[in-house]
Amino acid sequence: MEFFIDTGDLEEIKTAYSWGIVDGVTTNPSLVAKAGIDQKTLIKNISEIVDGPISAEVISTDSKGMLEEAYELAKIHKNVVIKLPMTKDGMIACNQLSKDGIKTNVTLIFSANQALLAAKNGATYVSPFIGRLDDIGQTGMQLIGEIREIFDNFAFETKILAASIRHSDHVKASAIMASDVATVPFKVLEQLFHHPLTKIGLEKFLADHEKSLK
Ligand code: G3P
Repeated sequence: MEFFIDTGDLEEIKTAYSWGIVDGVTTNPSLVAKAGIDQKTLIKNISEIVDGPISAEVISTDSKGMLEEAYELAKIHKNVVIKLPMTKDGMIACNQLSKDGIKTNVTLIFSANQALLAAKNGATYVSPFIGRLDDIGQTGMQLIGEIREIFDNFAFETKILAASIRHSDHVKASAIMASDVATVPFKVLEQLFHHPLTKIGLEKFLADHEKSLK
């Protein structure tokens, strides 16, 4: 399973990448706004840190505008993946970019049918938003399972990229559901390392070592 980091914060990306667990990066307009620099500069800076897929989202809502933005973003680096919204225009753009050999990530996926449409248009990734489904009382993880089953039924190559991950249990459940990728905020990546018994165990080993020196 691959891990992407879901952030536009370069320090977070550098730190998490140094841990050896980050395979790529996802951004969105909210994360770019938070980073406080223009999108192209941000994506370029990220490409200098991480050698892996970097999702950059279009802002246009019409397919023509999306494609214009996509071609500009794709020029930044070979690892750029164009993030498109799950709309009819997004699907038109996705279809064209697939033909052009440009990688895509269809975002704001909240149903298995939406994922199916994206796969039929050759999307490289679909991003089901787990946490936002949980927020409205649905079970985000169930959606991952449904998409996995559909993609396996028809041998779609589109990868499932579990997004809107809010805590470490979402990561574990995504892995159990055989999501290809999870895009994880820095804070949650950090949580994955921790277990109270690891901390207690290490303290005891070190204390015993100290005692042995006396
Ligand atoms: O990158 C999109 C997604 O991960 C957003 O997550 O927490 O804003 O629902 P969240």
